[in-house]
Amino acid sequence: MQTITVHASQAYPIWISHGLLAECGTLVRQQTKAQTAVVVTDDTVNELYGDTVTAALEQSGFRVLKFVFPHGEASKCSKTLNEIYDFLCGNNLTRTDCLVALGGGVVGDITGFAAATYLRGMDYVQIPTTLLAQVDSSVGGKTAIDLPGGKNLVGAFKQPVCVLCDPDTLRTLPRKFLADGMGEVIKYGMIWDEKLFALLEQYDLDRIHEVMDQVIASCVDIKRQVVEHDEFDTGERMILNFGHTLGHAVESYYHYVTYTHGSAVAAGMCMMAKKTCAEDVYQRLCRCVTAYELPTKVPAPMAELVPLCGNDKKRASASLRFIVCQHIGKAEIRSMPFTEFAAWMGGEQA
Ligand code: NAD
Ligand code: GLY
Repeated sequence: MQTITVHASQAYPIWISHGLLAECGTLVRQQTKAQTAVVVTDDTVNELYGDTVTAALEQSGFRVLKFVFPHGEASKCSKTLNEIYDFLCGNNLTRTDCLVALGGGVVGDITGFAAATYLRGMDYVQIPTTLLAQVDSSVGGKTAIDLPGGKNLVGAFKQPVCVLCDPDTLRTLPRKFLADGMGEVIKYGMIWDEKLFALLEQYDLDRIHEVMDQVIASCVDIKRQVVEHDEFDTGERMILNFGHTLGHAVESYYHYVTYTHGSAVAAGMCMMAKKTCAEDVYQRLCRCVTAYELPTKVPAPMAELVPLCGNDKKRASASLRFIVCQHIGKAEIRSMPFTEFAAWMGGEQA
């Protein structure tokens, strides 16, 4: 088993190993004195892994309750959050009990936010079951729900007491979501680790399982380092947003339907690289993105994407910060008045 310890405001271990779900009770027991553990999950993940996790927690002496909501981003909302609060209240959960987020980033984000706020804060455990959640959302303590006005608009920083990452769970993940997570994995190679990028270049979406443990551990360790330097996202943590400025614009332009987050980020990285990198770097990135069945561009004209970059309603007078990787493995934060950015990018073909 690999252990990576995050030294944030609260230090916590991330364990990576096959078969961890069936052993989760012993590990969670080491991290909390809770008597009751509430497993929060979605219907798809519950069907696949709910019983295994419940049995393992019960074997370690927890009283286990389960709250299940419908899968999908639409559930990451105040209605589901209120239902979770009501469930905790109705079952007399105390501040010394704990929540267990079993699922992808949707489950992790809303469970983390419930843990950050219910009774002014209680412990929670992350058991991520998508690649995106294993390499990104379960690490670093960002929790949130969406509002009708936008994604992740209400949230809190709340670190989990531990993260249990079982690569076996990725075997049941639909191909589309595996590719989606690979968008973020490629991003880590681009912003931080040329060796990781070179490893990814040797595989594709069918064969990446052969080295998945190594890939997950590398990504988690990069995120650990970034979070340890800038836990509350006031500076360097922004490099994790490489590809996201244009990626968010792509998601928004296509109403969050046509492109998953990871595929929008992949296209966003390539579009930014085309503008800022030498041809060989751009070509390497495009080849890698294509090998993982992700897009290198989108049909939308750049002139229509650029106005959707950033979320500042007064962006005409504001500066836009965005990430550039001129060299593989190295990211820099750039800042430009929005109007200048629009003129600079505007003439590009997406
Ligand atoms: P998700 O949680 O919706 O999971 C994707 C789908 O996969 C769901 O339908 C789910 O039921 C299913 N699923 C999950 N695990 C499975 C498995 N092992 N086998 C089969 N099906 C499985 O989406 P996601 O991509 O994991 O996460 C996206 C969310 O993460 C977004 O809300 C995003 O805002 C958030 N996010 C948060 C952070 C952070 O730092 N907190 C970072 C990145 C993304
Ligand atoms: N996913 C971006 C962050 O954690 O900061």
